[in-house]
Amino acid sequence: MSAQEPTKVIAMLNEDITGEHAAIVQYLRHAYAMEEGELACEIEAIARDEMRHLDWLAETVAELGGEPDLERGQMTIGGDSISEWMQRDVGLEKDAIALYERHIEAIEDRKITRLLRRIVSDEVAHRHDFEHFVEKSKKKAMEPIAPLEAPVGKPSKLGDMLNWGIRHEYTVILQYLYHSFMTPDEEVSEQMDDQAINEMQHLGWLAEELTESGGVPDIEDTGVDRSKDTADMLRADIAVERKVTKEYTRQIDEVDDPDLKRLIARIRDNEIYHDELFSDLLDEISE
Ligand SMILES: [Fe+2]
Ligand SMILES: [Fe+2]
Ligand SMILES: [Fe+2]
Repeated sequence: MSAQEPTKVIAMLNEDITGEHAAIVQYLRHAYAMEEGELACEIEAIARDEMRHLDWLAETVAELGGEPDLERGQMTIGGDSISEWMQRDVGLEKDAIALYERHIEAIEDRKITRLLRRIVSDEVAHRHDFEHFVEKSKKKAMEPIAPLEAPVGKPSKLGDMLNWGIRHEYTVILQYLYHSFMTPDEEVSEQMDDQAINEMQHLGWLAEELTESGGVPDIEDTGVDRSKDTADMLRADIAVERKVTKEYTRQIDEVDDPDLKRLIARIRDNEIYHDELFSDLLDEISE
């Protein structure tokens, strides 16, 4: 078997990664905007499957000497009813399956095609699940608790505040994942992956809080650090943690609702832990 150009394989895997990324955010936005319950939980579980796919694909890209693409692919956000949303999710899964099948045909490396087939088996199950959710949400006439699109000209102080945190959390999720894929240091990589998962919790808590007040989470990044050197990565991560700790501390003083105060304080304390953890790692690798 002739060796295939790694750049071609990397490009295909990166296309798959941007698709997984779009699916994760689309499914989370759907889950956040519906009542807490069985359906929202099932959709969040599917989003977690897609995160695992993204993880595997990005690891493979890094092993091939490439750089994982953290741009987000096209989402198909829209529709007024939950059954319409679920129909769009069916469409996303169908497109993903078709793309993976093309890539399985085109890629020669058997280890990689085995991985893609493994992912397709999940996507087929997801398509099935979403088809079932279309029927279920129709039958139960399920209504969203919040819109998917922000109403124009309705600024809210609480919404702006929570969305600041949401953008921060989304940015560091991407940043820590990128660092975990790119660093050759195994301990740093593992910690980055772990803390990215913790930031996903933060994103979820803030987005749910916002949605309950009728707001729309602004899941956009504000610029991901793409350092290649591990010490540079850690320095950037420490800087971002210190900045967010300061802002959350300010927010705790500003809000009146005791539950929201507690929530932000809990997140803020996690950020202090991240700062300390990254600082220790930086000390260790600088020795
Ligand atoms: Fe996936
Ligand atoms: Fe966070
Ligand atoms: Fe953090």
